[in-house]
Amino acid sequence: MNITINDKDFEPFIEHHLIEKRTRLIGIQINLEYEKRVPVFIGVLNGSFMFMADLMKEVNVSCETTFVKLASYHGGTASSGNITEELSIAMNIKNRDIIIVEDIIDTGRTLSFLLEKIKALEPASIKIATLLLKPDALTFDVGEIDYVGFEIANDFVVGYGLDYDGLGRNLKDIYRLYVG
Ligand code: HPA
Ligand code: MG
Repeated sequence: MNITINDKDFEPFIEHHLIEKRTRLIGIQINLEYEKRVPVFIGVLNGSFMFMADLMKEVNVSCETTFVKLASYHGGTASSGNITEELSIAMNIKNRDIIIVEDIIDTGRTLSFLLEKIKALEPASIKIATLLLKPDALTFDVGEIDYVGFEIANDFVVGYGLDYDGLGRNLKDIYRLYVG
């Protein structure tokens, strides 16, 4: 069933049970690859909070969890040019194995900004986990994306942490903009 948020209609796109299934597989992959390490998961707020919570429940290697908050979208469905760091990484990550956790990689602007910040803190390694990736929207160099939930077309999506004008993050499923 379609839903309306403010002035826009959205149609069902990715059901929660499919998100769960992909998240479980990514968790298994991480468990194998980090068996003898203690990675630090860095969730990118606000959008990643739901994926982060569900992914962490599938991870059974010893690990730490923290968050960073960046802002590049200032409402609407189009990305703005500037990024601000609203909450910086509150731990020493030097020589640590980092896994960045994103809700979505769109143009890659936020991620390339964050990668530079993190590299400057001299971690041992950096990998990236994202629930969604829009390959056709990618314009910034972010290197290889290690763990991808779903590759999607260049449509605006909402739900499961992702917002439209601050709304819709609480939706269990993911919806996409309905263009009739
Ligand atoms: N939806 C919500 N937030 C976003 C999107 C999207 O499609 N792309 C980048 N941030
Ligand atoms: Mg947003």
